[in-house]
Amino acid sequence: MSGHKASRPQWVSALLCNWVGIFGLLLAVGSLFAALFLVAIDFLRGFDQPYMGVMVFLVVPSFFYLGLFLAGVGIWLELRRRKKSAAAEARVEACGEWRTRQLVAVLVFTFLFLILSSFGSYRAFEVTESPEFCGALCHTPMKPEYTTYKISPHARVRCTECHIGSGASWFVRSKISGLYQVYSTLTDSYPRPIPVPVENLRPAPETCEQCHWPAKFHGWMELRRQFFLPDQQNTPWNIRLLVYVGGAAATRGPVGGIHWHMSVSNRMEYLAADESRQTIPWVRVTNRETGRVTVYESKDNPLTPEQKKLPIRVLDCIDCHNRPTHIFESPYRALDVSLWLGRIDPAIPSIKEKAAKALVQAADAVSQATGIALIAQALSKEYPNYQDQPKIEQAISETQRIFRANFFPEMKTNWKVRPDNIGHYNWPGCFRCHDGSHVDKTGRAISQDCNTCHIITAQGAQQPETVSLKGLEFDHPGGEVPPEFPCSQCHTGAP
Ligand code: HEC
Ligand code: HEC
Ligand code: HEC
Ligand code: HEC
Ligand code: HEC
Ligand code: HEC
Repeated sequence: MSGHKASRPQWVSALLCNWVGIFGLLLAVGSLFAALFLVAIDFLRGFDQPYMGVMVFLVVPSFFYLGLFLAGVGIWLELRRRKKSAAAEARVEACGEWRTRQLVAVLVFTFLFLILSSFGSYRAFEVTESPEFCGALCHTPMKPEYTTYKISPHARVRCTECHIGSGASWFVRSKISGLYQVYSTLTDSYPRPIPVPVENLRPAPETCEQCHWPAKFHGWMELRRQFFLPDQQNTPWNIRLLVYVGGAAATRGPVGGIHWHMSVSNRMEYLAADESRQTIPWVRVTNRETGRVTVYESKDNPLTPEQKKLPIRVLDCIDCHNRPTHIFESPYRALDVSLWLGRIDPAIPSIKEKAAKALVQAADAVSQATGIALIAQALSKEYPNYQDQPKIEQAISETQRIFRANFFPEMKTNWKVRPDNIGHYNWPGCFRCHDGSHVDKTGRAISQDCNTCHIITAQGAQQPETVSLKGLEFDHPGGEVPPEFPCSQCHTGAP
């Protein structure tokens, strides 16, 4: 026995004689195994899992190092104990004697630990990937985005699929900013509202285009809008549009239309004068096949020398679809839908205008609860003698529902701070470039013609019996407006 002991380095026996050391050893071996297991999954699945990297590169290794550290502590404790204790020799003997049993125990534990830790890390990885983790864990700061996400067309797409994508480098970047976010949540120092646009959002080809294939878009899309004028009768007004979404692959029909911007054969870049990318003085289009470059500059907002130094952005999906999932409806737009569906009775005089005013007032309340109370107060004061009180109550509760889904006073977040770049109604949107004032060297403008992007097939107070496929001239319910007036100058989504 003593010969055996001599051939074994002292730290090994010290390690195996101390429970802290044994635990550290198990932890290190277990996490090493878990890391190998995760790398294997990552490899087999082609690295398509966002957050997998967090487990493989951060969590598991930290357990590995913790294990090594504990093993070291165990050795040190044991050696110190032996040095101090007079009974050290005896103890080493004893330890040596039951070495075999101990070894079996270690093996069994290791085996169990390996299995548990592998499943454990896999589950942990699944959890960190879930929208509940991203959206609900830090409840207050993420409430506006999580609430709007849950009722959006992308409610079943995980946050990480748009915000992180796959691969190691983006996860590292997102983790670094994530750590800062955790810090600012804990210290309550996050900005209200969270500023947009999101800086350094991953380019769309690596997120959106994993599901939507730009080459496969084609055809027209019908948009049916039911408006109600903010007048005493809540006069209905219909508009039907055929929007030329178009496509980008010649195999599926002509290349053109709105998604021409995303066509594989050209590259569009622009420079924004403001942080929210609402003023675009300069656009450059490069035809990848012919190499031809066309630069358009705004006559209304010429580039200043300082602006020339701003970073150039390559246009992608998010420059138009910046609200694919966090959709904050304006009071007017949300109320139009409620009136259309009869959730608010359009027979109540001026209800659209009054409800919109109540929403605007409640938007600045100190909390969502106060806002909801304010809405009830304001609307019941407006209609004390209306003959059908249940209709008023219904209108109040529907207006409160709109408020809960779109207004977040605690985060100072609502439609006013969330520009929507699709269309041109409440925000400049397409008219940031298509305003008739962006011209190339020959003086040709990016078109503002009303039929460039859509045709109006029907419009008016009554539901139409026929539609026109030639396209109708726009009949503006607010009277004739000069073409140089952008719609968003008057239409801001609220009174
Ligand atoms: C369909 C893709 C998609 C999904 C899914 C998604 N987001 Fe977003 N999110 C975006 C885009 C695009 C923006 C950028 C808006 C901008 O830059 O103007 C954004 C912006 C944000 C912002 C900045 C504030 C704002 O309102 O623009 C936060 C915070 C956010 N997302 C959190 C989340 C959380 C939490 C989830 C999951 C519960 C989630 N997102 C799911 C696409 C998505
Ligand atoms: C994981 C897959 C996935 C990702 C990633 C994804 N989408 Fe989608 N998207 C879908 C699906 C599925 C639908 C259809 C939802 C439906 O019709 O209910 C959809 C619908 C849409 C629509 C039509 C919405 C409407 O109102 O009908 C737009 C626009 C869109 N996505 C843009 C984007 C943009 C921009 C991104 C990137 C920020 C993105 N998507 C990322 C799967 C995805
Ligand atoms: C120049 C602005 C612009 C760009 C860039 C753009 N889109 Fe669109 N897209 C539109 C408009 C406008 C519509 C019409 C629907 C609407 O008005 O809401 C649309 C429609 C869609 C639809 C719904 C189509 C349908 O038939 O239901 C999807 C999905 C979509 N876009 C995804 C994308 C993706 C993914 C990208 C990036 C590869 C992208 N878009 C780039 C403006 C744009
Ligand atoms: C960053 C500037 C910019 C923005 C924003 C923008 N466009 Fe364009 N768009 C252009 C340029 C530049 C052209 C090319 C003009 C030309 O060659 O005549 C163009 C061309 C088009 C065309 C004609 C494509 C063809 O078939 O030749 C359509 C349709 C179009 N845009 C729709 C839209 C819509 C809809 C939006 C808003 C959702 C939008 N654009 C936003 C810059 C922009
Ligand atoms: C650069 C492309 C483009 C041009 C030019 C354009 N539109 Fe539009 N317009 C759109 C898009 C895209 C939408 C759909 C927005 C959405 O999905 O909400 C739209 C929506 C509308 C709507 C419905 C309003 C809404 O948002 O519900 C009206 C009305 C309209 N356009 C009228 C016009 C008129 C009038 C002109 C000419 C002065 C014009 N448009 C020029 C792209 C364009
Ligand atoms: C000079 C201000 C002004 C401009 C610019 C303007 N509008 Fe209007 N618009 C009005 C007024 C006023 C009404 C009447 C009802 C009201 O007060 O909202 C109205 C009503 C409407 C309505 C009926 C629904 C509603 O919200 O009342 C639509 C749709 C509409 N406008 C679309 C457009 C479009 C699209 C453009 C841009 C091409 C545009 N408007 C430009 C002032 C304007």
